[in-house]
Amino acid sequence: MKVITSVNELVEKAAEVRAEGKSIGLVPTMGALHEGHLSLIRRARAENDVVFVSIFVNPVQFNNPDDLEKYPRTLDSDLELIGDDADYVFAPSVEEVFPVPPTEEYHFGIVEEVMEGSARPGHFNGVGVIVGRLLRWVNPDKAYFGEKDYQQIAVIRELKRQLGVPAEIVCCPIVREPNGLAMSSRNRRLTPHQFEVAAQIHRILEESKKLPDVPQIKQFVEEEIAKIPEFKLDYFEMADDQTLQSVQSFDDAEGVMGFITVYVGDVRLIDNIHYC
Ligand code: PAF
Repeated sequence: MKVITSVNELVEKAAEVRAEGKSIGLVPTMGALHEGHLSLIRRARAENDVVFVSIFVNPVQFNNPDDLEKYPRTLDSDLELIGDDADYVFAPSVEEVFPVPPTEEYHFGIVEEVMEGSARPGHFNGVGVIVGRLLRWVNPDKAYFGEKDYQQIAVIRELKRQLGVPAEIVCCPIVREPNGLAMSSRNRRLTPHQFEVAAQIHRILEESKKLPDVPQIKQFVEEEIAKIPEFKLDYFEMADDQTLQSVQSFDDAEGVMGFITVYVGDVRLIDNIHYC
């Protein structure tokens, strides 16, 4: 595996690979890698000739400066974890990616207006800025993202459509800790006690599947989360899995998912579940 820090070298290497007729898989990350990321990298390895991983804590997608400052940065151990599962790791500085402040302005329509889009103003534009640049620089056949950030995948599919790039956007299943907590780089900021308590998020969502309708599920999840003193619910939404618009009943959409965001102390965790 070779580490690349310059955009020019990244673009050259990707063009070389493509000229050799080889397929490219891209796994964009912000580092602090865990088994969830590694599952994306292994899948990219299995499905492509050459794998590029990017590690870049993208400042323009953070709407909270404290979250950006506290975001874990663990490049050396990330590189060790990747080992030979990737061919190239792009790990640039902020100045390399943004020599001048970015000016891209995206509008992703209804999929960005709800949930994370309304809770974190500017967040999805920031994701679009970096993912758009990576897709154009690397021009992969496939780009891999985790389903924990389900809304992000919907936004990236729309980004791909707007940019007219060929990459297939591949959605990979959530990987969970043995206690059920969805893996996230932010989990490193939890105390051991918070880590155990945070497992209740998934348990509550799983239990809610036993209830028959949307209002009862919403009430159950909200009440169960409120019972746990360490939790502060940001939102729990039940939505159409395609449009991400709220549903009031299972008849409102073919596929319905639940989307939750909970603060555990000052750590903001997200998770989701498929109902039908
Ligand atoms: O999901 C993430 O880690 C980030 O939002 C991404 C897609 C790498 C863009 O910075």
